[in-house]
Amino acid sequence: MHGATTAPMDRLQIVTVPQLRLPSFAEDVAAGLSANPKRLNSKYFYDAVGSALFDAITQLPEYYLTRAETDVLREWGWEIVRALGNPVEFIELGSGSATKTRLLIEETLRVQRTLRYSPIDISAEALRAAAGSLVDTYPALRVSGYVGDYFSILDTPHLQRTDKVLVMFMGSNIGNYEPADAVVLLRKVAAMLKPGDGLLLGADLKKDRRELLLAYDDPAGVTAAFNKNLLARINRELGGDFDVKTFEHVVEYGEERGGVHSYLAATSEQSVNVGAAGLQLHFEPGDRIHTESAYKYTAQNIAEMAGSAGLNVARSWTDSAGRFSVNLLVRAS
Ligand code: AVI
Repeated sequence: MHGATTAPMDRLQIVTVPQLRLPSFAEDVAAGLSANPKRLNSKYFYDAVGSALFDAITQLPEYYLTRAETDVLREWGWEIVRALGNPVEFIELGSGSATKTRLLIEETLRVQRTLRYSPIDISAEALRAAAGSLVDTYPALRVSGYVGDYFSILDTPHLQRTDKVLVMFMGSNIGNYEPADAVVLLRKVAAMLKPGDGLLLGADLKKDRRELLLAYDDPAGVTAAFNKNLLARINRELGGDFDVKTFEHVVEYGEERGGVHSYLAATSEQSVNVGAAGLQLHFEPGDRIHTESAYKYTAQNIAEMAGSAGLNVARSWTDSAGRFSVNLLVRAS
C-alpha cells in the first residue's frame, strides 16, 4: 500500500551460513608458530579486545585511512552511487559497524525508493548490531545479513540478489592480503559480477614512508597494544604463557612492494608453552613473529591487480590530500 511503512524487524533477515570447516585458532597458531619464519594470521587480531583497540586506532591522528576514506565517500558518494546506474543493491564484504556505508545508503535512497543491503561479516554480534540500527534509521532499507567468512560465502549459492549489484570491499581490507591472495579474492568477486555490476574497492595509496610508519606505530602505543593483544589472546584462549610485556611491536616498510609489515619481537630469551596448540617454543632476543602486512598501492598497481582478476577500473576517487582511493571495478570485456 502506498505510504505504508514496514516495521524494522520485517525488513531484517540474518542468515548464518554453514561453513566448510576452516582451521581453528589453535590449529593456525600451531602451524604459524612452528613455521620458519614464525607468523600469526592478522584475522585473529579481532576478538572483543582487539576490535575495541582497532576502533581506537581509527580515531588516532596518525591513522589517516578511515578519515580519508570517509572524506572520499562524503565528497563523492553522490557520484559513486550514480556511476553504475539505478536501481542497485549493495553487498558488503566485512561490513563491521557499517558506519561509512551509511553515507552511500543515504545517497542511494535519494535516487531510488528502496534499497537492499547484504552485509557479510564473521562477527554475528557486529552484524546484528549494525543491521538492527540500519533498519531502524532507514525505513526504505531492507537488510539481508550473512554471518560467515566472506571468502567461503562468495562460493555458496546463499547470496540472493534481484537488482544490479554493487559489491563493497572497503577500508583497505584488501591490503591485508598478500598480493597473490588479493587477486584470488578479487577473482571470486569477479565471478559473481554480472555485466552492469560493480565492485567498490577502498585501497590505501603509497606515500612517504614516515607517514606510513607512524600510521602503524603511533606514539601513544595503541597499535602496539593491538598487535600484542594477539599474544594475550593466545594466553587467554589457548592456555599460553607468553610474557607479553617482553615483546615489542616492530614495523617496517618494504618500499619495493609497498607493504607495511608488523612483527612482535622478543626482547629477552624465554621459553613459551601454548597448551591447546601443543607448542613448546624458545625465543632468543630479537626473534620475531610476523603478524600483519598492509599493502599500499599506486593507481597503476590497482589497475594491474584488477586486470589479473578479470576486472577493469571504471572510475577512481581520492580524498583531497590524495592519501586514499575508492575504485569502481567492473568485469573486463
Ligand atoms: C583492517 N586493516 C585495513 C587495518 C590496516 O590498516 O591494515 C588493520 C590495522 N593494523 C594496524 N592498524 C590498523
